[in-house]
Amino acid sequence: MFISNSVKETIAAGRTYGEQARRGDVFALRGDLGAGKTQFVKGFVAGLGSKADVTSPTFVLLHEYGGGRVPVYHFDFYRVENRDALLRLGFDDYVFGDGVSLIEWADRYGDLIPSHATWLSFEVGDENTRLINEEAPR
Ligand SMILES: Nc1ncnc2c1ncn2[C@@H]1O[C@H](COP(=O)(O)OP(=O)(O)OP(=O)(O)O)[C@@H](O)[C@H]1O
Ligand SMILES: [Mg+2]
Repeated sequence: MFISNSVKETIAAGRTYGEQARRGDVFALRGDLGAGKTQFVKGFVAGLGSKADVTSPTFVLLHEYGGGRVPVYHFDFYRVENRDALLRLGFDDYVFGDGVSLIEWADRYGDLIPSHATWLSFEVGDENTRLINEEAPR
């Protein structure tokens, strides 16, 4: 359990994960709106050595960030209407591919998340406090 007291601290936590990430890793992120998932991804991508600008995919299903040690595939299931859209896109090719995948709102289609994923939950404490918890494997 990690308590973040600022956006900076959440970004720093993401950076630490990004520095340690390996090809094929999958991070399933869950937590309410504004809980800090995207801020974490920002730090993560920077930690992998990419200078890419991180924003949540909204009109597309994923953002791909290059320029770092390994490519990053950033999904956000919040606006994904059904799992078929993900399957058509070839979701499995990404999560079993040679990049690192980060999936916001992963619990919306939790059955699509591979068992080797690391689940991280984000909870809102007070205005500037967020609780980040690495959950036991499912
Ligand atoms: N300790 C903190 N860590 C991260 N964000 C914080 C923190 N304290 C306040 N915030 C604010 O909370 C918001 C987090 O936004 P972010 O987009 O990362 O959330 P999210 O979990 O991705 O939400 P969504 O489900 O809408 O995608 C930002 O507006 C940020 O300024
Ligand atoms: Mg987000």
